[in-house]
Amino acid sequence: MRIDIGDWQIRSYRPDDAESLAAAADNRKIWRNMNEGFPNPYTLADANGWIALTRQESPERNFAIASGTEVIGGIGLKLRDDVFHRSAEIGYWLGEPFWGRGIATAALSALTDYAFVQFDLIRIDAGVFEWNPASCRVLEKAGYVREARLRKSVVKDGQVIDRFLYAKLRD
Ligand SMILES: CC(C)(COP(=O)(O)OP(=O)(O)OC[C@H]1O[C@@H](n2cnc3c(N)ncnc32)[C@H](O)[C@@H]1OP(=O)(O)O)[C@@H](O)C(=O)NCCC(=O)NCCS
Repeated sequence: MRIDIGDWQIRSYRPDDAESLAAAADNRKIWRNMNEGFPNPYTLADANGWIALTRQESPERNFAIASGTEVIGGIGLKLRDDVFHRSAEIGYWLGEPFWGRGIATAALSALTDYAFVQFDLIRIDAGVFEWNPASCRVLEKAGYVREARLRKSVVKDGQVIDRFLYAKLRD
Protein backbone atom coordinates (compact mmCIF):
# COMPACT_ATOMS: atom_id res chain seq x y z
CA MET A 1 0.00 0.00 0.00
CA ARG A 2 1.16 3.52 -0.71
CA ILE A 3 -0.56 6.90 -0.44
CA ASP A 4 1.37 10.05 -1.35
CA ILE A 5 0.92 13.02 0.98
CA GLY A 6 2.97 15.85 -0.51
CA ASP A 7 6.67 15.19 0.11
CA TRP A 8 5.82 12.18 2.28
CA GLN A 9 4.12 8.82 1.95
CA ILE A 10 2.01 6.45 3.96
CA ARG A 11 3.22 3.01 2.92
CA SER A 12 3.74 -0.58 3.98
CA TYR A 13 6.74 -1.26 6.24
CA ARG A 14 9.76 -2.89 4.61
CA PRO A 15 12.44 -5.06 6.27
CA ASP A 16 15.10 -2.38 5.65
CA ASP A 17 13.06 0.22 7.61
CA ALA A 18 14.25 -1.04 11.00
CA GLU A 19 17.08 1.42 11.58
CA SER A 20 15.18 4.58 10.68
CA LEU A 21 12.09 3.32 12.53
CA ALA A 22 14.06 2.72 15.73
CA ALA A 23 15.83 6.09 15.39
CA ALA A 24 12.55 8.00 14.99
CA ALA A 25 10.58 6.07 17.61
CA ASP A 26 13.15 5.96 20.42
CA ASN A 27 11.86 9.05 22.21
CA ARG A 28 10.27 9.35 25.61
CA LYS A 29 8.14 12.32 24.43
CA ILE A 30 6.50 10.00 21.89
CA TRP A 31 6.19 7.04 24.31
CA ARG A 32 4.45 9.30 26.87
CA ASN A 33 1.53 9.79 24.47
CA MET A 34 1.16 6.20 23.30
CA ASN A 35 -0.36 3.03 24.74
CA GLU A 36 2.00 0.69 26.58
CA GLY A 37 2.56 -1.52 23.52
CA PHE A 38 4.89 1.22 22.21
CA PRO A 39 8.33 0.46 23.73
CA ASN A 40 10.78 2.84 25.40
CA PRO A 41 13.64 2.56 24.81
CA TYR A 42 12.74 1.56 21.25
CA THR A 43 15.49 -0.80 20.08
CA LEU A 44 16.44 -2.19 16.68
CA ALA A 45 14.98 -5.53 17.86
CA ASP A 46 11.68 -3.77 18.67
CA ALA A 47 11.66 -2.23 15.19
CA ASN A 48 12.38 -5.56 13.49
CA GLY A 49 9.65 -7.25 15.55
CA TRP A 50 7.09 -4.57 14.68
CA ILE A 51 7.95 -4.66 10.97
CA ALA A 52 7.65 -8.46 10.89
CA LEU A 53 4.27 -8.26 12.65
CA THR A 54 2.85 -5.66 10.27
CA ARG A 55 4.03 -7.63 7.25
CA GLN A 56 1.90 -10.58 8.39
CA GLU A 57 -1.27 -8.53 8.75
CA SER A 58 -4.15 -9.41 6.49
CA PRO A 59 -5.70 -7.01 5.84
CA GLU A 60 -2.81 -4.62 6.36
CA ARG A 61 -3.64 -2.15 9.14
CA ASN A 62 -0.37 -0.51 10.25
CA PHE A 63 1.77 1.66 8.02
CA ALA A 64 4.93 3.76 7.98
CA ILE A 65 4.91 7.50 7.43
CA ALA A 66 8.03 7.89 5.32
CA SER A 67 10.21 10.10 3.16
CA GLY A 68 11.74 8.65 -0.01
CA THR A 69 14.48 7.07 2.10
CA GLU A 70 13.41 6.60 5.72
CA VAL A 71 10.60 6.05 8.17
CA ILE A 72 9.65 9.22 10.05
CA GLY A 73 6.55 7.96 11.87
CA GLY A 74 3.75 5.45 12.03
CA ILE A 75 -0.02 5.33 11.64
CA GLY A 76 -2.45 2.46 12.05
CA LEU A 77 -5.93 1.17 12.72
CA LYS A 78 -7.41 -1.22 15.23
CA LEU A 79 -10.41 -2.84 13.60
CA ARG A 80 -13.22 -3.96 15.87
CA ASP A 81 -15.55 -6.94 15.70
CA ASP A 82 -19.00 -7.98 16.89
CA VAL A 83 -21.49 -5.08 16.95
CA PHE A 84 -18.56 -2.66 16.65
CA HIS A 85 -17.30 -4.08 13.35
CA ARG A 86 -18.04 -0.91 11.36
CA SER A 87 -15.90 1.26 13.63
CA ALA A 88 -12.15 1.39 14.23
CA GLU A 89 -9.59 3.22 16.35
CA ILE A 90 -6.81 5.18 14.67
CA GLY A 91 -3.41 5.99 16.16
CA TYR A 92 -0.28 7.77 14.94
CA TRP A 93 3.08 9.20 15.93
CA LEU A 94 5.82 11.22 14.25
CA GLY A 95 9.57 11.56 14.93
CA GLU A 96 10.32 14.77 16.82
CA PRO A 97 12.47 16.47 14.10
CA PHE A 98 9.36 16.44 11.87
CA TRP A 99 6.85 17.96 14.28
CA GLY A 100 5.07 21.21 13.42
CA ARG A 101 5.00 20.85 9.62
CA GLY A 102 1.45 19.54 9.18
CA ILE A 103 2.62 16.00 8.43
CA ALA A 104 0.51 14.25 11.10
CA THR A 105 -2.61 16.14 9.96
CA ALA A 106 -1.99 15.16 6.32
CA ALA A 107 -1.34 11.52 7.26
CA LEU A 108 -4.39 11.32 9.52
CA SER A 109 -6.67 12.86 6.88
CA ALA A 110 -5.36 10.53 4.15
CA LEU A 111 -5.57 7.32 6.19
CA THR A 112 -9.03 8.27 7.47
CA ASP A 113 -10.31 8.62 3.88
CA TYR A 114 -8.60 5.36 2.89
CA ALA A 115 -10.00 3.45 5.89
CA PHE A 116 -13.61 4.52 5.40
CA VAL A 117 -13.52 3.04 1.91
CA GLN A 118 -11.14 0.10 2.34
CA PHE A 119 -12.84 -1.30 5.47
CA ASP A 120 -16.37 -0.02 4.84
CA LEU A 121 -16.34 1.82 8.18
CA ILE A 122 -18.91 4.34 9.36
CA ARG A 123 -16.95 5.64 12.34
CA ILE A 124 -13.28 6.13 13.22
CA ASP A 125 -12.22 7.25 16.68
CA ALA A 126 -9.06 8.16 18.56
CA GLY A 127 -8.11 8.64 22.19
CA VAL A 128 -5.80 11.46 23.31
CA PHE A 129 -4.22 11.84 26.73
CA GLU A 130 -5.19 15.09 28.45
CA TRP A 131 -1.64 16.47 28.30
CA ASN A 132 -1.45 16.28 24.47
CA PRO A 133 -3.04 19.43 22.98
CA ALA A 134 -1.02 19.06 19.73
CA SER A 135 -2.74 15.76 18.97
CA CYS A 136 -6.18 17.24 19.82
CA ARG A 137 -5.43 19.96 17.30
CA VAL A 138 -4.36 17.43 14.66
CA LEU A 139 -7.64 15.53 15.08
CA GLU A 140 -9.71 18.72 14.92
CA LYS A 141 -7.88 19.87 11.76
CA ALA A 142 -8.67 16.48 10.20
CA GLY A 143 -12.39 16.88 10.95
CA TYR A 144 -12.67 14.79 14.11
CA VAL A 145 -15.04 15.94 16.87
CA ARG A 146 -14.40 15.68 20.59
CA GLU A 147 -17.15 13.50 22.06
CA ALA A 148 -16.05 12.92 25.61
CA ARG A 149 -13.55 13.37 28.41
CA LEU A 150 -13.05 9.91 29.89
CA ARG A 151 -12.13 10.92 33.41
CA LYS A 152 -9.22 9.13 35.11
CA SER A 153 -9.35 6.39 32.48
CA VAL A 154 -5.60 6.15 31.86
CA VAL A 155 -2.52 5.39 33.93
CA LYS A 156 0.57 6.57 32.06
CA ASP A 157 4.05 7.52 33.22
CA GLY A 158 2.99 6.98 36.83
CA GLN A 159 0.02 9.35 36.65
CA VAL A 160 -3.74 8.87 36.53
CA ILE A 161 -5.07 11.09 33.75
CA ASP A 162 -8.12 11.81 31.61
CA ARG A 163 -8.39 10.81 27.96
CA PHE A 164 -10.32 12.69 25.27
CA LEU A 165 -12.38 10.65 22.82
CA TYR A 166 -12.51 12.03 19.27
CA ALA A 167 -14.51 10.58 16.37
CA LYS A 168 -15.20 11.19 12.70
CA LEU A 169 -18.19 9.73 10.88
CA ARG A 170 -18.19 8.68 7.24
CA ASP A 171 -20.67 11.33 6.11
C1 LIG B 1 1.00 14.88 18.09
C2 LIG B 1 1.84 14.76 16.84
C3 LIG B 1 1.40 13.53 16.05
C4 LIG B 1 1.64 16.03 16.00
O1 LIG B 1 2.33 15.90 14.76
P1 LIG B 1 2.64 17.17 13.84
O2 LIG B 1 3.01 16.69 12.48
O3 LIG B 1 3.58 18.07 14.54
O4 LIG B 1 1.20 17.85 13.78
P2 LIG B 1 0.74 19.02 12.79
O5 LIG B 1 1.95 19.84 12.41
O6 LIG B 1 -0.06 18.40 11.70
O7 LIG B 1 -0.26 19.87 13.71
C5 LIG B 1 0.10 20.20 15.04
C6 LIG B 1 -0.83 21.27 15.54
O8 LIG B 1 -0.76 21.30 16.97
C7 LIG B 1 -0.47 22.61 17.38
N1 LIG B 1 0.27 22.49 18.64
C8 LIG B 1 1.53 22.07 18.84
N2 LIG B 1 1.83 22.11 20.14
C9 LIG B 1 0.72 22.57 20.77
C10 LIG B 1 0.41 22.88 22.12
N3 LIG B 1 1.30 22.67 23.10
N4 LIG B 1 -0.83 23.34 22.41
C11 LIG B 1 -1.74 23.54 21.44
N5 LIG B 1 -1.49 23.30 20.13
C12 LIG B 1 -0.26 22.83 19.81
C13 LIG B 1 0.34 23.19 16.25
O9 LIG B 1 0.35 24.60 16.31
C14 LIG B 1 -0.47 22.66 15.06
O10 LIG B 1 -1.66 23.35 14.88
P3 LIG B 1 -1.81 24.55 13.79
O11 LIG B 1 -1.56 23.93 12.45
O12 LIG B 1 -3.21 25.02 13.98
O13 LIG B 1 -0.78 25.57 14.13
C15 LIG B 1 3.36 14.63 17.18
O14 LIG B 1 3.72 15.71 18.00
C16 LIG B 1 3.70 13.34 17.88
O15 LIG B 1 3.97 12.34 17.26
N6 LIG B 1 3.67 13.36 19.24
C17 LIG B 1 4.00 12.19 20.03
C18 LIG B 1 3.07 11.00 19.79
C19 LIG B 1 1.61 11.38 19.86
O16 LIG B 1 1.22 12.26 20.59
N7 LIG B 1 0.79 10.65 19.09
C20 LIG B 1 -0.65 10.87 19.10
C21 LIG B 1 -1.27 10.07 20.20
S1 LIG B 1 -3.01 10.43 20.33
